[in-house]
Amino acid sequence: MQTTTFPDGFLWGGAIAANQAEGGVNQGGKGLATVDTLPHGEHRLAVKTGLEKRFTLRDDEFYPSHQAIDFYHRYKEDIALMAEMGFSVFRTSIAWSRLYPQGDELTPNAEGIAFYRDLFAECKKHNIEPLVTLCHFDVPMHLVTEYGSWRNRKMVEFFTRYARSCFEAFDGLVKYWLTFNEINILLHSPFSGAGLAFEEGENKQQVKYQAAHHELLASALATKIAHEINPHNQVGCMLAGGNFYPRTCKPEDVWAALQKDRENLFFIDVQARGAYPSYTRRQFKEQGIEIQTEPGDDDILKNTVDFVSFSYYASRCASAEMNENNSSAANIVKSLNNPYIESSEWGWGIDPLGLRITMNMMYDRYQKPLFLVENGLGAKDVVNAQGEINDDYRISYLREHIKAMGEAIADGIPVMGYTSWGCIDLVSASTGEMSKRYGFIYVDRDDAGQGTLARTRKKSFYWYKKVIASNGADLD
Ligand code: BG6
Repeated sequence: MQTTTFPDGFLWGGAIAANQAEGGVNQGGKGLATVDTLPHGEHRLAVKTGLEKRFTLRDDEFYPSHQAIDFYHRYKEDIALMAEMGFSVFRTSIAWSRLYPQGDELTPNAEGIAFYRDLFAECKKHNIEPLVTLCHFDVPMHLVTEYGSWRNRKMVEFFTRYARSCFEAFDGLVKYWLTFNEINILLHSPFSGAGLAFEEGENKQQVKYQAAHHELLASALATKIAHEINPHNQVGCMLAGGNFYPRTCKPEDVWAALQKDRENLFFIDVQARGAYPSYTRRQFKEQGIEIQTEPGDDDILKNTVDFVSFSYYASRCASAEMNENNSSAANIVKSLNNPYIESSEWGWGIDPLGLRITMNMMYDRYQKPLFLVENGLGAKDVVNAQGEINDDYRISYLREHIKAMGEAIADGIPVMGYTSWGCIDLVSASTGEMSKRYGFIYVDRDDAGQGTLARTRKKSFYWYKKVIASNGADLD
């Protein structure tokens, strides 16, 4: 009998996001969202970061979100495959523009509500708890063009109306909620993160932190509303995680790493502790940032989350000499290369011990249960002549990270569950590629959108099934 450090009732599963999986871009009354304007190819990064404005679609571009993996029509088949692996939790997001096509309507689109009711009911039919992100890198485009997206305080009202509709419509089906996916990505990829595009000469930091304030208010209010509607609702914040290591033990490098961590943790500091951290006072002053607030904002922010969720792909590295030229972006956040760890084909580090370090830091800081809601290896898969996908590299990555998570639990950290990223192959958020695959389930579709969309179980599918059945004891 193998022993496990994973508690009874630990939630095992996988994660996707609406815009990377659903497709059905203009079906069911859905409106156009920011993510639907991100092209595949060389302009994607400039559009994502808000440097190049592309508010309308072009005929000469390919938009991978428009069909994605057609989860919109195939979710029953996909949920059945997840149930076959033994999932007890499935993380997805609601496309805001399916419920509020323009974003500023007063009532939700009935077809959008019906779609998600059916999806969540399907999960429950298979004893799978839905874990639902309200906003995973999407804003209805109308809110961008008419209101300037999150730079405008009106967004707080639009978002809380949308959130309330979700809590009411899916009450009894969903109890685990996340407000904003990887909220700190707003700083690193402002358009995809928060619908922000910039004017020439603007103080970008001012715009970003003002938008952050609005998102933080909206998140706190949504948390309050969720609890009022059903006290059993559990709401989490969500960080693109991964600690910064100092490049050397030179004090200046250690200080640089601490500042980099604070830049990302700022959001969670507010959401989990209920107030702006004291270090922001000096930072805002030095960067010329003046947040416009209203009386009562401090009280709103006191509505803290129930748990802290995060994604972890790799640790990061910083030094006092870090700059645009010597750093590169793995998962959007700039980092120095760490010579002590290996990297994926896309240059993302592979550092399982970094996960244990990150989890310990986060629990020391917040003392709230953690939920690892994204982790995985993006890799190119090959279908062999027998039609099999032998993804041992993925198994090895996941095994080492699950072990590290088990160590963190043994360190004394309460962890609610684990949803590996992209449990079924989907569109890559950073590159728009299909060939950057994370799944246990292969989807026949290529970077240009060609393929049958047929689903095939990979070797990792059978491996993960064993992991779940043994509650994390059998990782071989
Ligand atoms: C996270 C996002 O940043 O990383 C996901 O929440 C994303 O949406 C995932 O897909 C992996 O990144 P990528 O760029 O490989 O898809």
